[in-house]
Amino acid sequence: MASKYFSAFLNSSIKLEKGKVVSFIPKKTIEFSPGQFFLISFPKGFRGFSFPLIVKKSVVFYLNNKALNDSYELPKYVGLIGPLGKGFPKPLGKRIGVLVEDAYIMAALALRDVINGKIAYFTDNKDLGLMFQLMKIGDSVVLPLWQFRFSEFSSVYIIGSIDFIKPFLKRYGVKENIIIASLSKVNCGLGFCGSCILRKTGKRVCVDGPGFRLSEIKEWAKEVIYEP
Ligand code: FES
Repeated sequence: MASKYFSAFLNSSIKLEKGKVVSFIPKKTIEFSPGQFFLISFPKGFRGFSFPLIVKKSVVFYLNNKALNDSYELPKYVGLIGPLGKGFPKPLGKRIGVLVEDAYIMAALALRDVINGKIAYFTDNKDLGLMFQLMKIGDSVVLPLWQFRFSEFSSVYIIGSIDFIKPFLKRYGVKENIIIASLSKVNCGLGFCGSCILRKTGKRVCVDGPGFRLSEIKEWAKEVIYEP
């Protein structure tokens, strides 16, 4: 799916605990696969990458407070470039666990569209449960991270910053049924700058990912595991 530029206007903004959920109505229909992401650009303000979710006719982003502080007044119009990347690989089996960090909850919610069956979400972010209520999603469960047990799942997605993912890699090792996704290293988002290359694999997160099975990026994952 080729990237396109879209303009969109602000529909609503709901402030959650650590971030802001903003919803925009695009002028044209936007299509993307779960795990694909967008560059979102506000005039004279924040520019960053984020995962979208379509709710009715709106495209919804979860924006981190680090990038968008309270004093910044949301403009009426935004520019969106995407979809970027290939999205998420499909899971193995039907028992799916998803470990997710704050700013990635939209990606975790979008995952439901590639999974046939029930998902257990593990997060320390209370907003995810709230999003479930707002969107009336009733068939999946949300649990705190400490309740996660690797052996209970046929596939596990770990979605968040590299700092969030790292301790799980160290704990569980390089397994075929672990899929990771992160935008931590993404800078240009278009495959030019090389900042997102996963060492020793030649894979670019922004073009080849952002979701990868660990078996595809073994050399990188092993290095991360042995980092101090
Ligand atoms: S972010 Fe520039 S090449 Fe991927």
